[in-house]
Amino acid sequence: MRLDAERAAGARDREREAPCIAERPRARPKLVAVAEPIKREEANPEPEGEVIEPDERDVDPVRAARRDAALVHVRKFGDPVLRARARPVERVDNALRTEIERMGRLMNDAMGVGLAATQVGVLHRVLVYRVQQQSPVAALINPEIEWTGEEAESAEEGCLSLPAVLVDVARPIHVRVRALNEAGDEIVVEASGLEARVIQHEIDHLDGVLILDRATREQRKEAMRALREAQRAA
Ligand code: NI
Repeated sequence: MRLDAERAAGARDREREAPCIAERPRARPKLVAVAEPIKREEANPEPEGEVIEPDERDVDPVRAARRDAALVHVRKFGDPVLRARARPVERVDNALRTEIERMGRLMNDAMGVGLAATQVGVLHRVLVYRVQQQSPVAALINPEIEWTGEEAESAEEGCLSLPAVLVDVARPIHVRVRALNEAGDEIVVEASGLEARVIQHEIDHLDGVLILDRATREQRKEAMRALREAQRAA
């Protein structure tokens, strides 16, 4: 998932929002997610991950080049693998940890806040995410949502696999997820707000579901047009 750059600017003081890097500014950020407040890291001038404001992008061509290089490895809309259902991981071993490490690196370089294995063409039920700049990358293996709160909210999401697309997606605000960590231990993650949103977005990927499927008909049409334009321009 990627974070909208404009929203990200505000989100620094509030919290992080869902997925993506915005290609174009939008005038309606209305995320009400409740992840923990983001503390601004003055000590770390290189945000290294997620969101970068358009101006920052302009002044940091090295960072932009690194992002573009990472995005080459992320499967884009139209690739059938994005519609495939990933298979459960049977063994948590060094090969898997290497795969997870690579995914974390790609996510950071691509400035995403989450990445599912299917997006890099690997049909394993594995996802990585990082909703706060100062946090380490978290990995969930074979994640299962075992509980969702009744309260839902809609917020704009983007996706590294859908360049130039932002759509509103309604999701439960609170979730509890059972998964394995990189050591192979069973863990339970209780997440709210942005973290819950990112996890749900990435689990959707593992089931072949994209944000387009969760958007209104109108927004989906608009998104398809943006995707076609982006593909033509590429
Ligand atoms: Ni995505």
